[in-house]
Amino acid sequence: MNIQWDADTYTSDFAFVHQYGKGVAELIDAPKGSSVLDLGCGNGALSHLLQERGFSVTGLDASTELLAIAKKNYPDLTFLKGDTTDFSLKEPVDVVFSNAVFHWIDENRQPDMLGCVYRALKKNGQFVFEMGGYGNNRLIHETLRRVFGAYGYSYQMPFYFPTVGEYAVLLEKAGFRVVFAAYFDRMTDLKGPEGLKEWIKMFDKTPFSVVKKEEEKEAIMDQAVRQLEKDLFRNGKWYADYVRLRMKAIKE
Ligand code: BEZ
Repeated sequence: MNIQWDADTYTSDFAFVHQYGKGVAELIDAPKGSSVLDLGCGNGALSHLLQERGFSVTGLDASTELLAIAKKNYPDLTFLKGDTTDFSLKEPVDVVFSNAVFHWIDENRQPDMLGCVYRALKKNGQFVFEMGGYGNNRLIHETLRRVFGAYGYSYQMPFYFPTVGEYAVLLEKAGFRVVFAAYFDRMTDLKGPEGLKEWIKMFDKTPFSVVKKEEEKEAIMDQAVRQLEKDLFRNGKWYADYVRLRMKAIKE
């Protein structure tokens, strides 16, 4: 999926994406100086964190806007523009790391992406990642589907959220040995009084392309947000009903 990011808002209001990524990075078990590819590095915040752990980091992302921020904020790191499903590196790396990226890739492109990761790794290299797992944001997507329907539109959920079993099979088919898998709920607090509406605008705009009038888009979002209040607004704060799939696999 090709997304045009509002890179500044992403960086200022959705910092939780990389803050949660710190826990994923802890699965990396490699000595200082190891080479790490941060796949889908976005604004480079986690590439920087990995560099602070002593790794030699390269970030790769398809978004020109996010890469511009990454290069400005972390000028001593290497950032490459590339497609996660169609990339190659000059030299293989010890670790491929990725946070909150793979659910953006269509299910039928996942094997291409995993093939690129496999070829980018040295033998015994580590592949450590987290993505949205099965049922991620279920309340949000079910509510939007209902409200789209009420307005006469069909809601196409644009993400791929696999189960542990499904993704383990893909990893094994690509040649990896799965050594760790965790699947867990994580209610994630959003910033500000319009937190949920802003989240929908930032991350779930693709389904709205079928809605022609701007006022109708706003009305659909407002109605969905109102319906979600009882489940996702607590003690004055908005939350998103995240479910995570965190895994580690080794290139055999
Ligand atoms: C996620 O990190 O799970 C996610 C973020 C934005 C949209 C969909 C999923």
